[in-house]
Amino acid sequence: MFNTSHIEISRTAYKSNIRYLKKIIGPEARISSVIKGNAYGHGVEHILPLGEEAGLDHFSVFSASEALEAFKVKKPATRIMIMGHVDEQELEWAVENGLEFFVFDMGRLQKAMELAKKTGQKARIHIEAETGFHRTGFEYDTLPELVRFLKKNQAHHVFEGLCTHYAGAESLSNFLRVKNQIALYRKFYRYFSRHELVPLRRHTAGSAAALTYPATIMDMVRFGIAQYGFWPSPETQMFRFKKASFDDNALKRTLSWKSRVMVVKEVEAGQFVGYGSSYLANKKIKIAVVPVGYSNGFSRSLSNTGRVLIRGRRVPVIGTVTMNTMTVNVTDVPGIEKGDEVVMIGRQKRMNISIASFCEMSNQLNYQLLTRLPADIPRSIVK
Ligand SMILES: Cc1ncc(COP(=O)(O)O)c(C=O)c1O
Repeated sequence: MFNTSHIEISRTAYKSNIRYLKKIIGPEARISSVIKGNAYGHGVEHILPLGEEAGLDHFSVFSASEALEAFKVKKPATRIMIMGHVDEQELEWAVENGLEFFVFDMGRLQKAMELAKKTGQKARIHIEAETGFHRTGFEYDTLPELVRFLKKNQAHHVFEGLCTHYAGAESLSNFLRVKNQIALYRKFYRYFSRHELVPLRRHTAGSAAALTYPATIMDMVRFGIAQYGFWPSPETQMFRFKKASFDDNALKRTLSWKSRVMVVKEVEAGQFVGYGSSYLANKKIKIAVVPVGYSNGFSRSLSNTGRVLIRGRRVPVIGTVTMNTMTVNVTDVPGIEKGDEVVMIGRQKRMNISIASFCEMSNQLNYQLLTRLPADIPRSIVK
């Protein structure tokens, strides 16, 4: 076993999440599974086939390099959509191989049309509307020029989608901004329709929007965080819980992260543990060293605050988290031995460490913690 920790992904939890999300969006809308950031740390090569097993046939990535990863493991009919960066060379590959991609400026659109003519393949484009997120997207007042160009080149593209992205649908504080974005998106859609350019799919929502603003569901939802079993925010979770019962824990965490005890030893009263003097043993204690540190995704900010599970007990991290190790206080864990399982995220006996609690302690969002789990930690699918 050439690794210091490993990640398990639960097939049952993942499929249950997809079933729940399908129920929310209804039979008419399609799911695009967002697998950027190495499938939010879960591993593209694991999540994509699992998604296909769950009936999904559309996946979204940020860049062409991520698309290539997805391309290697997907079934032939499965579609990949690039939502962000593609350079010129990559664009040729994307057009040639029938990948879908966002278009948010005239430069990319012109290039895509040139490549479509060159390769003889229609470019599968999603026009992104700037509705108020202010990252990428065509401004409303550029539509006359855009529409003229699209109509002139109609033989060289498939208008796969008209899309936008909301500026924080997970927080009530953005309510008005999101509402305005929905209204402006509709105005974009009406403009295209009036000019007989009807996109095959309207898609605007990620997890938070789809879970809290039903109007955003439209023809397709780009689900990221929720498919992995995490709520985009406590507000989103409360909103759904109001609609169901409090016992209905609709989303299930798919990922567990585990390691093993490397060393167990005692430290006398009055000694500091680890670098510096942030932890002083005020009595004789027993410590365990775990071979996972900040280079492995266990944030340094969890020094003296993090918790892990060993032998079904929650034990505190003491001293600073180092590059490759953390030290935990196991004074109250009877019988602890080198080689015992350590759970950083997940369940052990009746105890559970959720990512949410983990993130609260280290001040990171679910998103950040997950995508910082290094790609070289081995992942496997479990039941
Ligand atoms: C354009 C776009 N769509 C969808 C998503 C998925 O968002 P979420 O993980 O909140 O579902 C993202 C993620 O940031 C995104 O950038």
